Amino acid sequence: MKIVVIGGTGLVGAKTVKILRAAGHEALAAAPSTGVDALTGAGLAQALAGAEVVLDLSNSPSFADQAVLDFFQTSGRNLLAAETVAGVRHHVALSVVGTEGLQASGYFRGKLAQERLIKTAGIPYTIVHCTQFFEFLDSIANAAATDGTVHLPPAYVQPIASDDVAALVADIALAPPANGTVEIAGPERLRLSELVARHLDATRDPRRVVSDVDAPYFGARLAEGSLVPSGPSPRLGAIAFDTWFRAQPARA
Ligand SMILES: NC(=O)c1ccc[n+]([C@@H]2O[C@H](COP(=O)([O-])OP(=O)(O)OC[C@H]3O[C@@H](n4cnc5c(N)ncnc54)[C@H](OP(=O)(O)O)[C@@H]3O)[C@@H](O)[C@H]2O)c1
Repeated sequence: MKIVVIGGTGLVGAKTVKILRAAGHEALAAAPSTGVDALTGAGLAQALAGAEVVLDLSNSPSFADQAVLDFFQTSGRNLLAAETVAGVRHHVALSVVGTEGLQASGYFRGKLAQERLIKTAGIPYTIVHCTQFFEFLDSIANAAATDGTVHLPPAYVQPIASDDVAALVADIALAPPANGTVEIAGPERLRLSELVARHLDATRDPRRVVSDVDAPYFGARLAEGSLVPSGPSPRLGAIAFDTWFRAQPARA
């Protein structure tokens, strides 16, 4: 089966393409660096010709409020219009657990706009709500840092390794469309401020973490359960944080 992976050169995208190809599928890694740009529409029609499934694993190069909104709205519209012409039978997109409740954040307004376009496009779909990737912990720390101190709330997180995300989204892409949202998460529930403190300590990062219930997370205030699955049966990855961390190359 031909499966187009938009963002197929990214962290999760490249791993997903590999898994789909190993399973015998024709998986096309579509990204600006391979000549397919969902923002301008360049190369989209050719990439989608004959595709049955599209997996959107792209991300905005800028996290500035307007840039994220423009990215997900424009690329979403272009992509869904091209999929309609190509007769795509399943659109799968990776979004974030808790998106609806985090609308004080520009990034999550962009993700919600993306989800709304998918729900009204008329193409059978599955939206995958995923928790934070282990690989995203540095970005979380950097976004919350001021003067050598990282301010984060002690809200619960259930982070996941990108290898587990890729395996789960590949599986979801091969299943019938849910025409709804499915949740995926990691195997352990931890507190965000404690996890980031552990991560900084393990990477010998001298920044101190201050746990503060009012500290924003990418512009949004978190309730205790904002970032963990809300449904009764999320699909879980197998890789625990310590196992993942031990497998990472040592930092200089
Ligand atoms: N990070 C997390 O913790 C987390 C948690 C839950 C969900 N997610 C979601 O996971 C998705 C993937 O994240 P990621 O970290 O794997 O992304 P990433 O590594 O930043 O990769 C982004 C991909 O998007 C592609 N891209 C950028 N602009 C594009 C355009 N105009 N047209 C087509 N493709 C374009 C990039 O292509 P080039 O290589 O050519 O630049 C790259 O392949 C995102 O939608 C994010 O919201 C992330």
